[in-house]
Amino acid sequence: MSFSEQNDRPAAPAILVGVDLGLPHFDAELEELGLLSQTAGLEPVARVVCKRKAPDAALFIGKGKADEIKQLADATGAAEILFDQALSPAQQRNLERHLDRPVNDRTLLILEIFAQRARSHEGKLQVELARLRYVSTRLVRRWSHLERQAGGAGVRGGPGEKQIELDRRMISEAIKRTRERLEKVKRQRQTQRRRRERQGAFNISLVGYTNAGKSTLFNALVKAGAYAADQLFATLDTTTRQLYLGEAGRSVSLSDTVGFIRDLPHGLVDAFQATLQEAVDADLLLHVVDAANPNHPEQLAEVQRVLHEIGAAEVPQVLVFNKVDLLDPSLRPRFETDRFELEGVQVPRVFVSGRTGLGLDALRRLLAQEVSRRSGPVAAAAQADSGSDAEGNDSAA
Ligand code: GTP
Repeated sequence: MSFSEQNDRPAAPAILVGVDLGLPHFDAELEELGLLSQTAGLEPVARVVCKRKAPDAALFIGKGKADEIKQLADATGAAEILFDQALSPAQQRNLERHLDRPVNDRTLLILEIFAQRARSHEGKLQVELARLRYVSTRLVRRWSHLERQAGGAGVRGGPGEKQIELDRRMISEAIKRTRERLEKVKRQRQTQRRRRERQGAFNISLVGYTNAGKSTLFNALVKAGAYAADQLFATLDTTTRQLYLGEAGRSVSLSDTVGFIRDLPHGLVDAFQATLQEAVDADLLLHVVDAANPNHPEQLAEVQRVLHEIGAAEVPQVLVFNKVDLLDPSLRPRFETDRFELEGVQVPRVFVSGRTGLGLDALRRLLAQEVSRRSGPVAAAAQADSGSDAEGNDSAA
């Protein structure tokens, strides 16, 4: 594989391919795939978009289109082809033969980014599990670190049956081991969470589509140093800090979590259950939306979908429309806060800029109101020791 694992390696040229199957969220500019590929250390050199009624069973695209991509790849020196849609193992294999270079899809790209980004022990285990599950459905070995573990060189192009059997056994053993290790880490996390509950803490989790500005907002609110970058999934691990809300006269726990994305590989949702559990167990969700992104309605809907999937749909929300500094002045909201109908429920919404600090006072006031309204006097009394010091980090980002 040509994904660079270190940022100092030169970016490998890649061709992006998007197939319009008439689905509503088709990204004709392949903008998100471009950002994903750059985040993974690849450099998009050409974009190919085509329309089909249904994917071709063997090649996903038509043979003519595949020939065209091959010519383009030869002409541009592309080292890799990336599809915006998920490919079946057979399609991927057939395309690799036809195009004579590695072919990967969005799912693997996201997995690769997660693998590069995971910092904590738990995060690494979670990614490992998701990668193992993905690869267990593929016959070819496209698994850089497993190959290293097995002591083999980068094998490409059809290992023999015996090798496949060995791979399969190795993978299922690795899945079992990783699951056991993850279970242990999960138990430790549960203990930490119970301790917080006993202390009567009010837990707020930041959720939102990747790149919406969660970490920037987290930093602006608690003045911590969580990593924020114009890359997808800069944050994979949950970071928790205490946030003092003067108007409520108490502090709350604020957690920054992993970003959501459309078509999040299923194995990742499963594997990240422990991290996403922060959102499920929260007393309040701060759902951050990149108001300056023209696709923000779809992104908001996607986050809602994942919240339903992980069982966090019932947790009360405050919507934070972020990056208002990027909006055309004529489009800027005239109010700091209003209400927004979300799945039939009116939820408070606040307009902010995590970067310039605009609207943050209104957000703090709104949070204080929500916290006072939602936590009884008993819980508030248990918070008498409130302070703005960092509580500690579940895992440094
Ligand atoms: P993931 O880790 O991918 O989930 O991203 P995130 O939601 O934590 O976003 P992050 O805070 O890393 O911000 C993404 C990019 O948007 C960074 O380049 C930020 O500097 C930028 N950004 C965040 N908030 C604002 C804002 O209010 N205005 C502007 N102009 N840029 C912002």
